[in-house]
Amino acid sequence: LSALEFAYRMPKAELHVHIEGTLEPELAFALARRNGLTLPYADEEALHAAKAFTDLQSFLDLYYACADVLRASHDFADLMLAYLGRAHADGVVHAEIFFDPQTHTARGIPFAEVMAGLNAGRAEGARRFGITSRLILCFLRHLSEEEAFATLAAAEPFLDDIDGFGLDSSERDHPPAKFARVFARVRALGKRVVAHAGEEGPASYITEALDVLGASRIDHGVRAVDDPALVRRLAADGVALTVCPLSNVRLRVFPTMKDHTLPALMAAGVRVTINSDDPAYFGGYMNDNIRAVHEAFGFDRATWAALARNSLEASWAGADDKARWI
Ligand code: HPA
Ligand code: ZN
Repeated sequence: LSALEFAYRMPKAELHVHIEGTLEPELAFALARRNGLTLPYADEEALHAAKAFTDLQSFLDLYYACADVLRASHDFADLMLAYLGRAHADGVVHAEIFFDPQTHTARGIPFAEVMAGLNAGRAEGARRFGITSRLILCFLRHLSEEEAFATLAAAEPFLDDIDGFGLDSSERDHPPAKFARVFARVRALGKRVVAHAGEEGPASYITEALDVLGASRIDHGVRAVDDPALVRRLAADGVALTVCPLSNVRLRVFPTMKDHTLPALMAAGVRVTINSDDPAYFGGYMNDNIRAVHEAFGFDRATWAALARNSLEASWAGADDKARWI
């Protein structure tokens, strides 16, 4: 077995994927038809052509526009089931999945409708593929603290189905500290905290996410290399980074994959994991990311095994499941 084939087949966890970012053009047009809507793109090819991004914001504009076709709980269920099937095919045994409820409640979709659909999809995915999953609610950082608090209040009846809370959307000028009080409440509710930090924003946002929000994992975190003391801290404390290689190249965080800081972070002893972020928008799922990294860096089997082990260890799966996989 080649190192790449080995990496494809390894049991692994996906810890950074936005369910809204798994909306493939084919499903987007099918949901638009089902809901009597017209997408602002003539066909799948035109939508695909719109995916020439220049930065995070240019992606987010399209991502939020396409999410408009998600209306009823069965739309969310179909989306979730399609993702879980695709992840399963790539050796993903466990997925911790972000959702952005504010994108939906702002359009008048009830929170309960979103939750019912995501949970139905997860239950069917577990039955069909044996894949386990968790949900992470992300607050949109371009919106206000007040709106985040309102979203947290709306989520309270569903806390049994939400394992953690995160922070996503436009990073620049929206530092983690903007949501210090919201995440204090999240911690008081006994929920885990993660945050997107150090994707387009500075390394100092990573430190802030750890110190002010109490984040236990950092999503992206690739700009940590600008602060050697922070890199030492991440390594010493075993803080996992959920790195998304194809996303970073498509959003021009790095000019090419060879410029990616993933090998430097691994060499420094940081617990790095590989993830797909928004696979329908960035050119691929888990194993497409693995292939792109392999083409750039040619990792050996031991390195691929370490990356898969990192993902399972850094996951919130139960001890019994972890013992089965690792
Ligand atoms: N960064 C910030 N917000 C997001 C992303 C991302 O990579 N994907 C979906 N929302
Ligand atoms: Zn992300």
